[in-house]
This record gives sequence, structure tokens and C-alpha cells, in this order.
Amino acid sequence: VNHLLGIKYLKRDDIDLIFKTADHFKEVINRPIKKVPSLRDITIANLFFENSTRTRLSFELAEKRLSADVINFSSSSSSVSKGETLIDTVNNILSMKVDMVVMRHPNPGAGIFLSKHVNASIINAGDGTHEHPTQALLDTYSIREKLGEVKGKKVVIVGDILHSRVALSNIFALKLQGAEVKVCGPKTLIPKHIESLGVKVESNLRKALEWCDVANMLRVQNERMEISYFPNTREYTQQFGVNKALLDSLDKPVVIMHPGPINRGVEITSDVADSKQAIILDQVQNGVAIRMAVIYLLASKIKP
Ligand code: CP
Repeated sequence: VNHLLGIKYLKRDDIDLIFKTADHFKEVINRPIKKVPSLRDITIANLFFENSTRTRLSFELAEKRLSADVINFSSSSSSVSKGETLIDTVNNILSMKVDMVVMRHPNPGAGIFLSKHVNASIINAGDGTHEHPTQALLDTYSIREKLGEVKGKKVVIVGDILHSRVALSNIFALKLQGAEVKVCGPKTLIPKHIESLGVKVESNLRKALEWCDVANMLRVQNERMEISYFPNTREYTQQFGVNKALLDSLDKPVVIMHPGPINRGVEITSDVADSKQAIILDQVQNGVAIRMAVIYLLASKIKP
């Protein structure tokens, strides 16, 4: 397959190969000269139809550290506002001899749709509420780095599971690597059939934290809600926010993760986000090596 559209389409061996390749690139980007000439003959377009800080910059840096040529597209400053379709937009970009497309889009399945209509490798950088595969790869890579392995670890994903592509991709990636997974959040923000994915639901945050080795704290995605799914932010924080007092009252340390962007004081307090228990910036750092690995492995299939 010449695309990365979702973790759902990967096998355990694919993840092992991505991690092994990322280990190599992590060593490379810690050298004084952080670049390798591997992809001098590849051109990559980063198409962002939705806002991003981490993913957009991480992909661009990963591409540049592989020596690829890079062009960046943001829908807000493009001719999409004049009515141009997604396929026309991408085919126009591809006619400039572009080999690979990294795309973030607000619509679930946008990457899958595009992969059927254009002649290029597609990497999904987040498609609405569906999947965010490179985020799940960097998250599970970070767990492996922190705890030695993912297999057998207990991971709780806390918050707005219903609207979260990070949650779905993480569930697939964690299960594939042999972790136990629970989700925790307001009943209205947990998808109805989530247990069919092999995860359990825990409505009490303290119990979830007492059970787990790792807690991945998610932001409530108000921008994807037409109505409010819980009474108010203060009540959400009281029931589902982590703070230092809660973590200190547990009888073992829990590794705290967050994909960003953080809403400080809502799902996580600053004294937790900035503590040694949190690996939030390690996740971001690992994102570059993971994206270098994904791009490198896909490009090796399209190179002559
Ligand atoms: N984690 C993540 O996808 O962050 P951005 O929206 O800033 O890319």
C-alpha cells in the first residue's frame, strides 16, 4: 500500500518496521547535522484544510530533514474559497510533479476518498473525527520509549472520545501492540459501540487512574459540537480533569500524555502538564522521527 490512511489498515509488523526506522531517524536528528539526503528526488505537498500547529510543522520538519522538496498549502489562503473541489485542487498540485500528499481535512474519510481519485501517495494528517494515524504512532512509540514496551500496559484515554480521531487511532494502535485499553469520560462523549473495539468504559476518573499505567488526556472538541454534550466546563473539570492532588493521592505514578493543544485548567492543570510525570513534549519530539519513518518507508515504494 502506498498510503497511510489509518491505523486500521496496518498490521503489527508495519508498526514494528515504522518504530525501527524511527529509532534510526531519532538518532540522526540528535546529531549536529540533522539531515540525511535520502529523499532528494521526492516532492511532498502538505495540504491543510484545518488548523494545526504540531502536525503541520512536524511533517514539514520531517520532510526537510529527509531532504525532500516541500510545498505547503493552507485552504484558508487558497482558491478553495472560489469553489475549487478537493480533487481539482490536488490534481493541479500534482501536475507540478508532486509525489506525495500529506493532508489534514475536517471531513472523516477525506484521505480515503482522495486516494481513490488521484495518483499520489497520501498520508492522513487527521481527517475530522475519524483517524490521526501518525499521532497514534508517535503516542505508542512514546509509551514504548518511557515504559520499555507497549504490550501488557494499561492505558486509559480520558475525555471527548466521541469526537476524537486521536482516540480511535490510539485504540487501534494500542490493541495491535497488545495493550489493555479503557476509555473514561462523560457518557455523552463516549461512542455507543466503543466496546466492540475491545476497550472497556470506566466512568470514574479516580478508578481509571488507579487501574492504569498511562493516562492520555484529550481536549473537549467544542468546535465539532453543535450542542453542548455536558453541563459546563467547571463540572467537566471536576469529574474528568487531572490535577496534582489527584495524581499524588494514587499509590503509583501514572505517565501522563496529551496530544495537544492543551486547554490548561480544563482537562489538565499546569502543575501536571509541566511535571516530570508528563511526556507531552517527548510526544511532540518523537513525532518528527515517526513522520520521517512513515515518509521514508512510503517513498521507498514510489522511488524508481
Ligand atoms: N496533536 C495535533 O494534531 O496537534 P495539531 O492540531 O496542532 O496538529
